[in-house]
Amino acid sequence: MGTTTAFDIAPLSGVLGAEIRDLDLAVPMSAATLAEFRRAFVEHHVVVVRDQQLSAEQQMDFARQFGELDTHPFVEGQADNPEVLDVITEADDRINFGGGWHTDVTFLEEPDLGSVLYAIDVPPVGGDTLFANQHAAYDALSPTMKSMLDGLVGVHSAGPQYATGGTSTKSKSMKTKNADLARQTVEHPVVRTHPESGRRSLYVNGAFTVGIKGMHQNESAALLQFLLGHAVQERFTCRLRWEPGTLAMWDNRSVQHYALHDYGGRRRHMRRVTIKGDRPR
Ligand code: SIN
Repeated sequence: MGTTTAFDIAPLSGVLGAEIRDLDLAVPMSAATLAEFRRAFVEHHVVVVRDQQLSAEQQMDFARQFGELDTHPFVEGQADNPEVLDVITEADDRINFGGGWHTDVTFLEEPDLGSVLYAIDVPPVGGDTLFANQHAAYDALSPTMKSMLDGLVGVHSAGPQYATGGTSTKSKSMKTKNADLARQTVEHPVVRTHPESGRRSLYVNGAFTVGIKGMHQNESAALLQFLLGHAVQERFTCRLRWEPGTLAMWDNRSVQHYALHDYGGRRRHMRRVTIKGDRPR
């Protein structure tokens, strides 16, 4: 006898991402459905559910089924729901939020477990999000490179993005806060182990990893240049095309992502909530 499943699921690419069908996220999941959803999330790293109708409160309730919500320390959330970020690119904005390969908030000691992004208004063409599987990127390294990376510690900071003069949140509709605190640094292993699957992954990103502990600046710049380029090769990626009502939840412990800005002249409005994570090990 086959096992009964709560929903249909179809992979988005050979390496990560899956679309879940026939699920209404506006209502709480049963324990069995939630367990199946969580298994799919850890296995596929990015799960996509289309045709949803979610208020900010319903999106928060959905995300709370996976853990406590986080509040972004440097970007202002909604007045009534500080955990909710309206990720908006105005038609004449030159820089978009998330427009470069990154993993969310690795400048925190306990970076978020995952992010839940919901599409409200998207351009008819463009504005896709790319994801890269950091387990696959790690697995593809040579045994010699893997043993060299073992024990290395990355230094992360929000400074390049959020300190005064940083490159992020140039959208007119998004406001930066606490800029003076953004230069603080935290340390995380360059290779982390996923707390649920036990798989290892590369854990450096171009937005927030500012160096490798104990290396001269030119040494760490050379190593990071290699790792950052390696980590986002096409063979490790999938691409998500959004429609209004699409919800995606990605695993920040195993993916990087990149919000493309190829829709100048159009507005794009997404709503994001994030789920608190643990200390990378
Ligand atoms: C983000 O980096 O959280 C934003 C992603 C997107 O807008 O596609």
